[in-house]
Amino acid sequence: MSGSLLVDNIGELVTNVAGSGDGGPLGLRRDAAVLVEEGRVAWVGPARYAPAADRRIDAEGAAVLPGFVDSHAHLVFAGDRAAEFAARMAGEPYTGGGIRTTVGATRAASDDELRATVRRLVGEATRQGTTTIEIKSGYGLTVADEARSLRIAAEVTGETTFLGAHVVPAEYADRPDDYVGLVCGPMLAAAAPYARWVDVFCERGAFDADHARAILTAGQAAGLGARLHANQLGPGPGVRLGVELGAASVDHCTHLDDTDVDALAGSPTVATLLPGAEFSTRSPYPDARRLLDAGVTVALATDCNPGSSYTSSMPFCVALAVREMRMTPAEAVWAATAGGARALRRDDVGVLRPDARADLTILDAPSHLHLAYRPGVPLIRQVLHNGVPQCRS
Ligand code: NIG
Ligand code: FE
Repeated sequence: MSGSLLVDNIGELVTNVAGSGDGGPLGLRRDAAVLVEEGRVAWVGPARYAPAADRRIDAEGAAVLPGFVDSHAHLVFAGDRAAEFAARMAGEPYTGGGIRTTVGATRAASDDELRATVRRLVGEATRQGTTTIEIKSGYGLTVADEARSLRIAAEVTGETTFLGAHVVPAEYADRPDDYVGLVCGPMLAAAAPYARWVDVFCERGAFDADHARAILTAGQAAGLGARLHANQLGPGPGVRLGVELGAASVDHCTHLDDTDVDALAGSPTVATLLPGAEFSTRSPYPDARRLLDAGVTVALATDCNPGSSYTSSMPFCVALAVREMRMTPAEAVWAATAGGARALRRDDVGVLRPDARADLTILDAPSHLHLAYRPGVPLIRQVLHNGVPQCRS
């Protein structure tokens, strides 16, 4: 779609430009307008000073925010694990053991089946306001299956993550060191052309700190940025290792001690919290307040996957973060937009300022507060991605 587009009559605009507008971290502006040209934000200001444009969207006084940046999702898989969820709700614990079930189903699926699932879930996410999404491999765990997972993910996003170290697959159960050698060698070589990031599930029962270090440094040597699943199921070395290696993000952060929090606080590594996982595994939520009060940069993401968190909804995660993790609505909205952008080391998304990508979510509500205040309600009226309308619900 060419020509300029003016989104005006915005009752409340979340810019995430700190200090602008109301002076707070969301940079809230009242009675605002946004001019879009060639997929980018060209101008932001008071509606009464808005420049002329070829087309216009009337926000009718609603709130507008940057599209959500979902920096952690596992969308390339086959089958589901609804029965495992039901068993958990009847008292079974979550151990991550079901990952191998999804690996079996994923290996057996055709490219087109995997592609259809990825596209269905990206469509779901878009309709809920997400305009940037990270997608991991990790349910293939062979050289060919990891490479194809990333190839399919790369068809829909530039934020692709090689997670060959999700679990040790059954055929390597007695030889974990050999599997790590495969991940660092031929699997990484096959995956790297389609991946921006490398990730490891660093947890008891998955990969220990030595394995995680070997895989992350091999990935970095291949030009990938590091990120890490860390401290999800119990305390451990993952968060500190991620900070030491300069990871963009350490994700989950459910079980932290003071040294973990101190390490994060003095670093550029983002703590990405995934409350959908605690919801779906009926586990205690991470202590977001402790991280924020220590000055750690916090992101929120869905962790969308068929095992521990089968939700693609960033508004749901915002509501959980506010209700269950004591984040303020403003902190949660920031973490789901600008925080996710930081976790992906992006400065062109999660923010509405001139030259940023024109990714806008128009709410069916007058304020960002409603995302947590009205949980479960379809509040996403319209989504613009690169300035192009995606859907109208
Ligand atoms: O982030 N923790 C490891 N990976 C996923 C769960 C994957 C699964 O259970 O299938 C997570 O929670
Ligand atoms: Fe995950």
